[in-house]
Amino acid sequence: MDELTIRRIPFEFPEDIEPHWNAAKPEWSHMVNGASLVMPYLEPYLIQSVRAGMKQIEDPELKAVASDYCGQEGQHFRQHKRFNDLLADKGYPELRELEDRMTEGYRRITEKHSLRFHLAYAAGFESMALVIGHWLVRDREYLFGGSDPRVASLILWHFVEEIEHKNAALDVYNAVCPGYFYRLFGLFYASFHVIALSRRAYRSMLRKDGLWTKPSSRLRLWKEVTRFLALVLPHMLRCSVPGHDPRKIEDPQWVVDWVQAYRDGQGSVPILDTQNLAAPLGEPRPA
Ligand SMILES: [Fe+2]
Ligand SMILES: [Fe+2]
Repeated sequence: MDELTIRRIPFEFPEDIEPHWNAAKPEWSHMVNGASLVMPYLEPYLIQSVRAGMKQIEDPELKAVASDYCGQEGQHFRQHKRFNDLLADKGYPELRELEDRMTEGYRRITEKHSLRFHLAYAAGFESMALVIGHWLVRDREYLFGGSDPRVASLILWHFVEEIEHKNAALDVYNAVCPGYFYRLFGLFYASFHVIALSRRAYRSMLRKDGLWTKPSSRLRLWKEVTRFLALVLPHMLRCSVPGHDPRKIEDPQWVVDWVQAYRDGQGSVPILDTQNLAAPLGEPRPA
């Protein structure tokens, strides 16, 4: 999938969306909410990094892919910002302070580091996003079954596109400043950084709910975090070997079907039926 499509999807985030959008899994809901909170600070930084790299690229095809990559990421963070504003308005105003801290944090990273660092961060984050995308799609019934379709659809759309643009940032890194060890450093740095920022946000929300200190909630959270690490880490190792080429990681059939169903304009794409996430995509939406 070298060709990227910039999809401007009119997602709606009305007041009746609950922060516990997966009512059976409040801890998982907040893990996702925490990651969502980071996107409007992380993704503009990725765009800025790749745009800076593009100035040193001659290859028109790579430039076009990099430009479309920026277009997709631009849509992602705008949609997440709207969702995040809803979260803040629905009982978590303290998220605003975390947002201010992230603005400042990414400003400092931008100023302090080299283009090589920024591109290694972008390529590293994209490796993690690819692996997480595969996991979310594979495990979608467990993670999103029975949840609010508006939130599940936002997240799965985002990660369909993360899988779609899996090689863009790495191609830019390799074209501008190739090097295995720095790429590896970027992979670890970006992964730990984004996970730490997400954790700070979900901890804040769980505290507000009174769940953070509740043993039963903490156990459920650990279960979800352990599950995430067990299912994601082995694949992260695959991305950390020399010569890693995301093109060799086959796209899940569900993602291929999502892209096709969106192109055809039919079926329950982009708003998914979370009561039946195993159903083939592209089939007529039930009346
Ligand atoms: Fe994204
Ligand atoms: Fe991405």
